[in-house]
Amino acid sequence: MQKRKLGNTGLEVSALGFGCMGLNFLDGKGLNKKDAITLLRNAVERGVTFFDTAEAYGPYTNEELVGEGLQPYRKDVVIATKFGCKDASPAIGLDSRPETIRAVTEASLKRLKTDYIDLLYQHRVDPNVPIEDVAGTVKDLIQEGKVKYFGLSEASSTTIRKAHSIQPVSALQSEYSLFWREPENEIIPTLEELGIGFVPFSPLGKGFLTGIINKKLEAVDRRNVIPRFTEENIKANLVLVEALSEIAQQKNISTSQLALAWLLAQKPWIAPIPGTTKLHRLEENISSTDIILSTDDLAKIDTTVNGITLVGDRYPDFLEKQIDR
Ligand SMILES: NC(=O)c1ccc[n+]([C@@H]2O[C@H](COP(=O)([O-])OP(=O)(O)OC[C@H]3O[C@@H](n4cnc5c(N)ncnc54)[C@H](OP(=O)(O)O)[C@@H]3O)[C@@H](O)[C@H]2O)c1
Repeated sequence: MQKRKLGNTGLEVSALGFGCMGLNFLDGKGLNKKDAITLLRNAVERGVTFFDTAEAYGPYTNEELVGEGLQPYRKDVVIATKFGCKDASPAIGLDSRPETIRAVTEASLKRLKTDYIDLLYQHRVDPNVPIEDVAGTVKDLIQEGKVKYFGLSEASSTTIRKAHSIQPVSALQSEYSLFWREPENEIIPTLEELGIGFVPFSPLGKGFLTGIINKKLEAVDRRNVIPRFTEENIKANLVLVEALSEIAQQKNISTSQLALAWLLAQKPWIAPIPGTTKLHRLEENISSTDIILSTDDLAKIDTTVNGITLVGDRYPDFLEKQIDR
């Protein structure tokens, strides 16, 4: 697979990464350990070198899967993880105090079965800890060789600038897809100006853009807390998926591939991290890196998406409050 450079700090990853969260932490029907490890290894064998996890996924168990799954390939892959949730749970709150960052990093290293983390993100900006202190702590961890690159997630432009002045930020990970285009307003221009890479999370709209979600989610599904995924909002927003699937059909590709190829076409320093629990979908997603959308295709997608008003917030209140503005 082609590689992409994230930021100006030397970090290089496969154009498409693998979001590992859903292996055991999304729809309540995750894989057993053996199958998850097999899928991770299948991803490496197919050219994926960029894997995303967090202590909060599981909590803890997702990092353990990633550590075990990638151990035979450790030197060939980029492992990204995250700190910053109180007791590893966004529902409890945020905690990016320097001592917590250090303790979480040590614990993540153990679970990941490694002596360095390639890319360490702050999962959410903690309003109680100056970002300069967070960046300074990660800078120290980099100097100690425990971490290679620094990242932020869902940070505002102001926070990105402050952090970057203390320790160069290699990548921002925030939600970006045809289901959520807000980063185009201020974030992407800031990243471009500062030379920071962008890792869109939920690049398939948490599954919505793929067309597999067309009715009420099952009770065990974690997406039930998201207003966009109520039964009536799913129904209303399907107009977007139908319109995209028409464009995809004309190009003989799937709607998922269209969504990923669209992201890859936005900037050469963007590397999305779709998640899946199925090998055939992993292969389908990887194939999107070979799809070239023409200027006409991109304009058609733009006009189509701009003509549709989506309904429902992307986060419930308790998670929206944690977004840095
Ligand atoms: N920084 C943050 O705060 C944050 C927040 C959310 C996510 N993330 C990261 O981003 C990664 C991806 O996000 P996500 O899991 O929320 O959403 P996503 O990648 O947009 O969508 C995943 C969903 O799409 C389905 N899917 C994937 N490929 C498909 C295909 N080709 N056809 C049909 N369905 C397909 C998967 O189902 P199957 O498993 O059934 O295939 C799964 O339900 C996560 O794993 C995590 O690493 C980070």
